[in-house]
Amino acid sequence: MNLPRIVETPRALRDALGDIRPGLVPTMGSLHQGHLSLIERSARENPATVVSIFVNPTQFQNEGDLSTYPRSLERDALAATEAGADLIYAPSVQTVYPEGFSTTVSVAGLTDRWEGASRPGHFTGVATVVSILLNTVRPARAYFGEKDYQQLQIVRRMQGDLQLPGEIVSCPTLREDDGLALSSRNIRLNGIERTAAAILSEALFAMRDAANTGERKSADILKIGTAILSAEPMIDLDYLAIVDPDNLEPIDDLMPGARALIAATVGETRLIDNLALWELEG
Ligand code: PAJ
Repeated sequence: MNLPRIVETPRALRDALGDIRPGLVPTMGSLHQGHLSLIERSARENPATVVSIFVNPTQFQNEGDLSTYPRSLERDALAATEAGADLIYAPSVQTVYPEGFSTTVSVAGLTDRWEGASRPGHFTGVATVVSILLNTVRPARAYFGEKDYQQLQIVRRMQGDLQLPGEIVSCPTLREDDGLALSSRNIRLNGIERTAAAILSEALFAMRDAANTGERKSADILKIGTAILSAEPMIDLDYLAIVDPDNLEPIDDLMPGARALIAATVGETRLIDNLALWELEG
């Protein structure tokens, strides 16, 4: 069995990697099969894979959410290694944000809407930590899940704009059998909430079915989604939108790649999901 190899500083990371340009899978730990699918893909496509595990305080809006975020470094390191990771990079908060740290990366426009509106400052925290990770690890490729679609587009934009190392690779969303997107937050759902949560993906799939049968008006497709969601009283909808896949602006008429985005609270737990309504060719 390969034992996990955990390093905690950029120096130790450089010593371990030498000249190798690895694949990088940035995570906040609490790894599930969705994360592991990114690691497996990186392991297939790169000479070595680094998985970073860092619960990034600057992307949390509230102290409670940060302090209750599940942490399980030993178990995560083992699971990541079994999935093909060669090195776990688990820096301390002090290492990533040393005394006097005062620089942030903010991506204009893309961060304004959706999760950005509901969680002010969140994406600046994400962009800042991802830029630090890309510069520290200097990967050949970095893997991100479509599950967090807005995050993926923001990271892409930032990497291009700042010419940071690492091609950004997007990976499909892994789902439970009933369609619920895997998420570290799902464990917070109790039994009835968990059952109710499946309606998010049910709405998205029904919207895609409508698009597949030729429906092209966003308003009509949105009606189908909201009708399904309104049948479930446990769901408190934050937004359901159909957007341009690149700039995330709402669109009136479907275009190739058009994406439906959803965020809703079930009980105390906020969930997000998204789906391509019209797959791009190729
Ligand atoms: P985290 O929520 O741990 O997610 C790490 C990566 O796993 C992200 O790229 C996310 O999109 C992907 N992921 C999560 N659920 C998935 C699923 N069901 N299927 C496929 N991929 C999935 O996202 C973050 O951490 C942080 O914001 C981070 C980028 C690490 C910066 O701190």
